Amino acid sequence: MKYSTYLRELFSDTNLDIEDLLLLESFQIKYLPKRVPQKEFATLLRAHPIIHRFLIKKEPSIQSFLDKILMENKPIHDQDTINDHCNEVVWEIGELIVYNKFPEAYNSKIKFTWKIEDILSTNLLKDKTIADVGAGSGMLSLLLSPYVKTVYAFEPLVSFRKFIRNEVSVKRIKNIYTLEGYLESIPLPDDTLNYLFTSNAIGWNFEQEQKEIERVVKPGGQAIHLMRAFDKDAASPYHDQLLKWNYEFYQFKAEGYKAKYFKTF
Ligand SMILES: C[S@@+](CC[C@H](N)C(=O)[O-])C[C@H]1O[C@@H](n2cnc3c(N)ncnc32)[C@H](O)[C@@H]1O
Repeated sequence: MKYSTYLRELFSDTNLDIEDLLLLESFQIKYLPKRVPQKEFATLLRAHPIIHRFLIKKEPSIQSFLDKILMENKPIHDQDTINDHCNEVVWEIGELIVYNKFPEAYNSKIKFTWKIEDILSTNLLKDKTIADVGAGSGMLSLLLSPYVKTVYAFEPLVSFRKFIRNEVSVKRIKNIYTLEGYLESIPLPDDTLNYLFTSNAIGWNFEQEQKEIERVVKPGGQAIHLMRAFDKDAASPYHDQLLKWNYEFYQFKAEGYKAKYFKTF
């Protein structure tokens, strides 16, 4: 299944517009070359010069990619095709837009089926300092918080940090600290964490991410990466990369793909 088709079905009652690309943060714009269909994106840039200009202003490093795809793809003149191309781009990166525009829709629609017993024995979590990096709407942080001393929930997006802080306040949770942070640059001193968790938040820059994980996890501590995907093919690049970094893994029986990868340092 195409990713855009999966997203259209998942967020079928959510309205995404082309102008929503104006909500993207710089680090998300850097991901576009790997995420957008190029021919369709070239059409969108020609049809929406404001977006073209915005992307370059917000993240100047994107310019060479935009120049390249505009050179390689001829202008389209048929208005229906232009509309189809623009919609295809919006839905191919629909998840990024939903994060920024409707964090509550992400939180309610995503099938986060992890239970604490799938992840780790609660005895091992007692009194521990942990991080959830790429925390999104905080579903994993909230699941882990009753069992540990401290949770650092690191998330680059303002919209999600706001969402988590609100949940933490409404639910009167005392041990989740929500901070800006990237997996390849975690604002913690060396050897701080007993456990570092991610849930569907790995693989932007594997080498740098692994170095950073090794730096912040205490000797004897663990990194645990949870992965769920709409099918096995969607998960396989991450699977292969994690095995290359000597992770062990356990696959759960589930709709689509669901697995836990773990490594002791
Ligand atoms: C697929 S979502 C997963 C969110 C959440 N962990 C979950 O399981 O629902 C990926 C998250 O990683 C964040 N992210 C993107 N780039 C990141 C990076 N370089 N380091 C850490 N998090 C990142 C995104 O903003 C988004 O919240």
